[in-house]
Amino acid sequence: MSNAVIVGSQWGDEGKAKVIDYLTKRSDIIIRFQGGANAGHTVIAEGQKFVFHMVPSGIMYKDKICIIANGVVFDAEQFLKEIDELKTQGISIDNRLFISETAHLVLPYHKAQDNAAENLMGTGKIGTTGRGIGPAYADKAARNGIRVADLVDWDLFTKKFEANLEQKKRLIESVYQSELSLDKDAILNHYKSIRNRLLPFITDTGYYLFKESRKGKKLLFEGAQGTFLDIDHGTYPFVTSSSTVSGCAASGCGIGPSSIDYVIGIVKTYTTRVGNGPFPTELNDSIGKQLQDEGGEFGATTGRPRRCGWFDSVMIRKAVQVNGLNRFALTKLDVLNKLDEIKICTHYEIDGKKVDQFPSRISMLEKAVPVYESMEGWNCDISECKIFNDLPSKAHVYIKRIQELCYNVPVLIVSIGPDRNQTIEVNPL
Ligand code: IMP
Repeated sequence: MSNAVIVGSQWGDEGKAKVIDYLTKRSDIIIRFQGGANAGHTVIAEGQKFVFHMVPSGIMYKDKICIIANGVVFDAEQFLKEIDELKTQGISIDNRLFISETAHLVLPYHKAQDNAAENLMGTGKIGTTGRGIGPAYADKAARNGIRVADLVDWDLFTKKFEANLEQKKRLIESVYQSELSLDKDAILNHYKSIRNRLLPFITDTGYYLFKESRKGKKLLFEGAQGTFLDIDHGTYPFVTSSSTVSGCAASGCGIGPSSIDYVIGIVKTYTTRVGNGPFPTELNDSIGKQLQDEGGEFGATTGRPRRCGWFDSVMIRKAVQVNGLNRFALTKLDVLNKLDEIKICTHYEIDGKKVDQFPSRISMLEKAVPVYESMEGWNCDISECKIFNDLPSKAHVYIKRIQELCYNVPVLIVSIGPDRNQTIEVNPL
């Protein structure tokens, strides 16, 4: 296998960590390139459950290098919590975990701003994770963010922090009509105390990746969130604040796009969404509840229940387009085991007209009526299947139809349960 990027093809939570875990075995270096502690990757290995928000889940493999690259907004608190947890579990991170010096820091005032902004929005809330992601990316774009490298020069960090905190106080009090009750000295003292733990991880990760890739090391770019949460291509404004599509793997890591050979789209075999915003195939009935229960559809970061619905081929066609997907990893097929009937959305109807393309305007998406094809469910347990041919023929029909509706992208793997072993390889790389 050569270098590969993995992206979520829907609204995140497609079961990415499971696929990343599977592909990590074939890679040398695993890189997070966007997002922050809003992501929540759950890995189940030998019956033990790990949830990662900052550290790439590839860290579970003791011989792999993991990178938190420049496109990420770095949450130091969460990072330290995770490395402490890893140490408690006996997993060494020495010399195999690096943070980009140009990644931006998520600071306590970002979280306060995130929550104050949401509170002010009332019914128009985005439904953010409250992790300060939007404000951290906004500061980056406004050119007053604080970068990881700024921690090296303590006086500079202090100066920037004090200036920003003052600005945020004014913003939160006057615009968001809320209070910013953060203790400047306590925060600075805290960052001074954790700084020495962070400094050894900081490096020019782009240069490192470039050199290692030229030596033949295999890179795996780990996307967070999903295509429809992308700041440009998602269901704006109900999106996250980073670019979540495959193209960001290059700019978010500091190496060029010619380094990417495979673009793997994680496609859940039904659809889920956390947070607000339109969701054409949403099921507000007992089947939606069944998918939620069978699929354990509760957010890994916030614990919020995920909204559930049928598979939407209109979305996946757009995901193929914007990411240039050349492989699908189909996940959570086993969640459909108990259904007598399974539906696939083939297209929408908007104002009485057939629409095959995902609308860019939210007002149109809100009016989209999904048009379904119905098929019989397989109604049996598939979680013990080892090879593709072990799957019931009705599951073959379902997978084939998904592919037909979505440009016949080849299926790399099908995931049929949460454990590492419950993964069927269809077309190995
Ligand atoms: P933010 O990224 O916290 O600003 O939240 C913006 C939107 O993205 C909200 O709807 C969140 O629920 C959603 N979101 C952010 N991260 C994830 C994720 O990892 N999975 C699914 N949804 C996410």
